Amino acid sequence: MTTLKAVRGTRDLLPPETALWNRIETTARAVFARYNFGEIRTPIFEDTSLFARGVGEETDIVSKEMFTWEDRARAQSEKPQMLTLRPENTAGVVRAYIEHKLGETGQLQKLFYIGPQFRRERPQKGRYRQFFQIGAEVIGPPSAGSESPLRDAEVLEMLASLLDELGITGWTLELNSVGSPADRARYNDTLRAALEPVKAKMCVDCQRRAETNPLRVLDCKVPADQPIIATLPVIADSLDDDSKTHFAAVTAALDAAGVPYTRNHRLVRGLDYYTRTTFEFTHGGLGAQNALLGGGRYDGLSEAIGGPKAPGIGFAMGEDRLVLTLLAQESNQNLTVKADAFIAPLGESLNAPALALARELRRAGLTIELGDGSFRLKKSFEAADKTARAIVILGEDELKSGILTVKTFATGVQTKVPRAELASSLANPAPE
Ligand code: HAM
Repeated sequence: MTTLKAVRGTRDLLPPETALWNRIETTARAVFARYNFGEIRTPIFEDTSLFARGVGEETDIVSKEMFTWEDRARAQSEKPQMLTLRPENTAGVVRAYIEHKLGETGQLQKLFYIGPQFRRERPQKGRYRQFFQIGAEVIGPPSAGSESPLRDAEVLEMLASLLDELGITGWTLELNSVGSPADRARYNDTLRAALEPVKAKMCVDCQRRAETNPLRVLDCKVPADQPIIATLPVIADSLDDDSKTHFAAVTAALDAAGVPYTRNHRLVRGLDYYTRTTFEFTHGGLGAQNALLGGGRYDGLSEAIGGPKAPGIGFAMGEDRLVLTLLAQESNQNLTVKADAFIAPLGESLNAPALALARELRRAGLTIELGDGSFRLKKSFEAADKTARAIVILGEDELKSGILTVKTFATGVQTKVPRAELASSLANPAPE
């Protein structure tokens, strides 16, 4: 029989690495709380049309990368529903915002999420078919200030603080503006004209995009197309005064807060909902998949999926990539944490009293490994040395006298400790 393995592009996350995942999520939750964000959990699958209308039919994500299936119709009269594993979470959050009429509160909604996303991409280092995002969205009616450039700058400042707090050094914030829909339409016309004489030399995808959505040509990864793309006009020259003023206010606030950034004129991002500010935080240590996170403003997304006017801005961090970056750093090489003690019952009749002792110590806050009375003492010592800082021996004599034998591995010192003092003695081992 062939052995079953995790499906291509998916993977198991195992200890001790999962300790790092948990540390990242705990830090992110603490930072989100300081900025007064609340958690949202949306379903892992949605109606396919949410992504087609929200993210855009022409994007790689929707046209090539979604895991989509036809759900069986419940009744003869019903049309089968097309469902899709979420490739990203922004469309789902905005759908929930509309569905629960969150705009009617008149307040800005500040929501964060942590969870798996799914894209049928070619798997490689830092790129998976199931991956995890930690993201946040700030969305609300214009009267709540949702269009203000201060919101953009605050989100970017929060991200800079979060990356610093996670211990990620050497990141770069790349920033751009893709303007309003009218700016984009103007830029698309400019691009279409500029592509006309050169498109025949480009890849088939670009030839199609040059007609349907020229902006998407800037997402092309085909090496041979890059010299042509480098000569295309930049979007900054197509922005109207409002878009320019908005962008200038974002950068002025970042300057005031001391958040460094670089302008990247080609950063249009691979999702159609973006308007005005777009950004990525990149890291040199990641190789080809160098984006730690990406995001931007999406002032028209709610209306595109049938909701009220609700401008917003948000981001999603690739948690897998945060882990890769942190693992490459020296301080995270040894993630294994040893238990405070290993309890070794001497004989199977001591198993039950050993469980009682383990319960006592665990309730006192200690991390305890419980051995087994069927182990020979040598085997207990070997197991204890691998998993714990100390071994506690529990034989008939120890049980009767209430005086336990404890050996601390780092010092090699063996002592007798009264049961009542055991927890505090294991919690504060004698100095080496
Ligand atoms: P995105 O740029 O498609 O944006 O993804 C955000 C981040 O998710 C990327 O920068 C990367 O770190 C990670 N990521 C994406 N695809 C993969 C993959 N196949 N394997 C591993 N990591 C991956 C969005 O998803 C938008 N929803 C972000 C956003 C929120 N914009 C506004 N609000």
